[in-house]
Amino acid sequence: MQDLVAGHVAVVTGAARGIGLAVVEALTSRGVAVACLDHPDADTTRVTEVCRAAGVPHLVLAVDVRDRDAVHAAVARSAELGPVSYAVNCAGVDSLVQSATVSAEDWKRVLDIDLDGVMFACQAEHDVLLASGGGAIVNIASMSGHIVNRGVSHAAYSAAKAGVIHVSKALAVEWAAAGIRVNSLSPGYTRTPMTADIAPELEARFESETPMGRFAEVEEIAEPVVFLLGRRASYVTGADLLVDGGFCAW
Ligand SMILES: NC(=O)c1ccc[n+]([C@@H]2O[C@H](COP(=O)([O-])OP(=O)(O)OC[C@H]3O[C@@H](n4cnc5c(N)ncnc54)[C@H](O)[C@@H]3O)[C@@H](O)[C@H]2O)c1
Repeated sequence: MQDLVAGHVAVVTGAARGIGLAVVEALTSRGVAVACLDHPDADTTRVTEVCRAAGVPHLVLAVDVRDRDAVHAAVARSAELGPVSYAVNCAGVDSLVQSATVSAEDWKRVLDIDLDGVMFACQAEHDVLLASGGGAIVNIASMSGHIVNRGVSHAAYSAAKAGVIHVSKALAVEWAAAGIRVNSLSPGYTRTPMTADIAPELEARFESETPMGRFAEVEEIAEPVVFLLGRRASYVTGADLLVDGGFCAW
């Protein structure tokens, strides 16, 4: 049984790099068409190359996930490519700041992108998935939505990710009867541009805190995303899948 339907369409936010780009590669290699959304400042050269090389219909759209109307307009355009059956919301930012002094602006910026942005995308994706008879959404949360990272101060990020895990459950319940499954996936430390600037000593500590002793590669996140989107997960909804090399089990 094919896990995904070739020719059907996926919406991917944060598609330009990191986990989002790996998700686009995993989907397009299976013949899925993609609407790639990312911030207007993002360099979309690589994701455009990936889509062209796979030979699938695609759109690359500049949108800030904080702009609800722009997100709705971009996601609505994804239906130009065919029936929309899949959505993966990867867009996100981290901000390392001490909680005692975090500014109102920085707190709000992280919540706006990492939580509100996911909710706005899900709302827009609900409409196009419904129009094509249902489908599946995966929201990229984080193990930081489950645990507090030792030695890392990013309370806004953790709060947003815990929110993503729980809002995904709420949407799963609300939309189950409409044939839309909603799950979240919580990565552990993963090798992407987001983690590229971690100091070597800190990286070594994060690795030693992970039972598997290393960071994830992006493909190791993208493949479980494909599982959650596909037919093999047809009875999975309202779940959060930890993909963290065992970090949260310790
Ligand atoms: N890398 C990790 O260790 C790790 C661990 C757990 C969870 N995550 C989560 O995985 C997701 C992807 O992270 P990544 O590591 O690939 O990061 P990344 O920084 O490499 O990629 C994030 C993408 O999101 C886009 N983006 C940021 N703000 C945006 C906005 N306002 N509007 C539209 N797009 C925006 C960026 O342009 C970028 O392309 C994030 O939600 C992140 O929190 C990452």
